[in-house]
Amino acid sequence: MVTKHLLIEQCRMNESIQIAAKLLRKGEVVAIPTETVYGLGADATNERAVEKIFQAKGRPSDNPLIVHIATKKALFELVMDSPDYLEDLIDHFSPGPITYVLKSNGKIASNVTAGLSTLGVRIPSNEIALELLRQVKLPIAAPSANLSGKPSPTTAQHVLEDMHGKIAAVLDGGSSEVGVESTVVDCTGEIPTILRLGKITAEDINQVVGAVQIVDTNNKKIKKPKSPGMKYKHYAPDVPLILVKDSSKLKMMIEQRENKGERVGVLVSLTLPETIRAKKVKSLGGKEDEMAINLYNLLRSFKPKEVDIIICEAPLPKGIGTAILDRLERAATKIID
Ligand code: TXA
Ligand code: MG
Repeated sequence: MVTKHLLIEQCRMNESIQIAAKLLRKGEVVAIPTETVYGLGADATNERAVEKIFQAKGRPSDNPLIVHIATKKALFELVMDSPDYLEDLIDHFSPGPITYVLKSNGKIASNVTAGLSTLGVRIPSNEIALELLRQVKLPIAAPSANLSGKPSPTTAQHVLEDMHGKIAAVLDGGSSEVGVESTVVDCTGEIPTILRLGKITAEDINQVVGAVQIVDTNNKKIKKPKSPGMKYKHYAPDVPLILVKDSSKLKMMIEQRENKGERVGVLVSLTLPETIRAKKVKSLGGKEDEMAINLYNLLRSFKPKEVDIIICEAPLPKGIGTAILDRLERAATKIID
C-alpha cells in the first residue's frame, strides 16, 4: 500500500479533508492531526476498520482506543449514566486535550473498547480534525499514530517514519500544538479520577469540579489497571534512556558513560549548562509548554548510529511538566533519583 501524504494548503484544505473523509468512510485507516499528537483514525462503528489500527500499530488487543467526535451532542449519543460533573468538565475543557472515560451504550464496535464496558471519548480542538469529524459524520477511533511502544508522533513526518505503507493516508496539519497526549479522566465514579496526566492538570479539574484524584499508575501491585494502556512499555526512543532526577548528578553520569567509551547523547530540560560536553547535547527548551512541544521530536531524533545512550535531565513537575516527567519515566530504561 502506498500511503497518501495529504497536505493542507490554504486554498486546498477542503480537498485533502474530503479525500481523508472518503477513505475513512470506506473503512481505511488515516492518520489525522490533533492538538495533542497525531492519531491513527478509523470508523469506530466498523470492527474491521478498527482491527486495521491494531495491526498497523502492533497494538495489544486488550488496550482500548479513544473515540473522537466533533460535538457534545455526539458524545452523549455514545455513553450512558454520565455523572453531573461531566457537563461542567466538557463546558470548561472541550474541545481540548482531555478524554472522558464513561459508560458505553454499545454503539461503537466492541474492539474499540477492548471488551470494557467503558469508552474513552474526546472532542479535539484542532481545526482540521474538527472539520474532518464534521464531514465524515462518524465517531473516529484513534490511538496515537506511532508504532506500539515508540514515542508519539507530533508531525506527519513522524507518522510516515512509523506507518509508511501500512495506512491509506496521513493528513498533514503541521506540528501538534500541545505535544503530549490528552489527560484521561475516568468519569464513572463520584469524583473524576485522572488515569493519564496531560496538559489539563489535576488543579485545573479541581477548580471546576471541586474534587479530583489521580490513579497511581506506577503501583505494580495493581493487577488490572483502570487504564489498560498504562501497563505497557511506552514512548521508548531507539536508544536507551537514563532519566536523572537530581540535576547535580548529570555531569558525573555523562562522564562515567563517556569514560566507558560510550557515545553519549544528552537531553537537558533547561538551557545548556556550559560545563556539559557530550557527543550530542539537546535542550527541551526550559518553559514547560515548549518542552512538551519538543519532547517526542527530540526523543525520536537520537539514532543508534550516532549515540549509544541518552542521559536525560528530568523536568520539574509543574503544570504540563508533570505529564512530561510521567512520559520520560515510562520511556526510561533506568531512573537515577
Ligand atoms: O491525545 C490523545 O489522547 C491521542 C490523540 C490521538 O487523541 N490519543 C492517544 O491514544 O493518546 P492512545 O491509544 O495512544 O492512548 C489512549 C489511552 C491508553 O492508555 C488507553 O488504555 C486509555 O487511553 N483508554 C482508552 N479507553 C479507555 C477506557 N475505556 N478506560 C480506561 N482507559 C482507556
Ligand atoms: Mg499512545
